[in-house]
Amino acid sequence: MTADPAPTPQSGSAGQPLLTGDVTILFDRKATTVSRRPGETLLESARRGGLTPPFSCEAGNCGTCMARLTVGTATMRVNDALMDDEVADGYVLTCQAVPDDGHVTVDYED
Ligand code: FES
Repeated sequence: MTADPAPTPQSGSAGQPLLTGDVTILFDRKATTVSRRPGETLLESARRGGLTPPFSCEAGNCGTCMARLTVGTATMRVNDALMDDEVADGYVLTCQAVPDDGHVTVDYED
């Protein structure tokens, strides 16, 4: 006898859970918006949008990828670079920050 399958979350055509919202990236004096993907960091979203924002370690250690959220919230997997007051001001490590929900705007120029 097999166990009942776990409930299947609503999914998109590629089998990924559907996410509402998008990510707007302010970089190089223009705004680029991409749809959200599950678990994707802000840096990955920016790259998928064809942008080349700064980064180095991609491990949450150096702070090179730092930018400020001006709309929405995100959770950093690792933060070994930003001080508490910077986080309170909305700064995130884009290589580690995954949007929490809905729409977010991240500003590399602030
Ligand atoms: S690239 Fe080093 S903290 Fe993000």
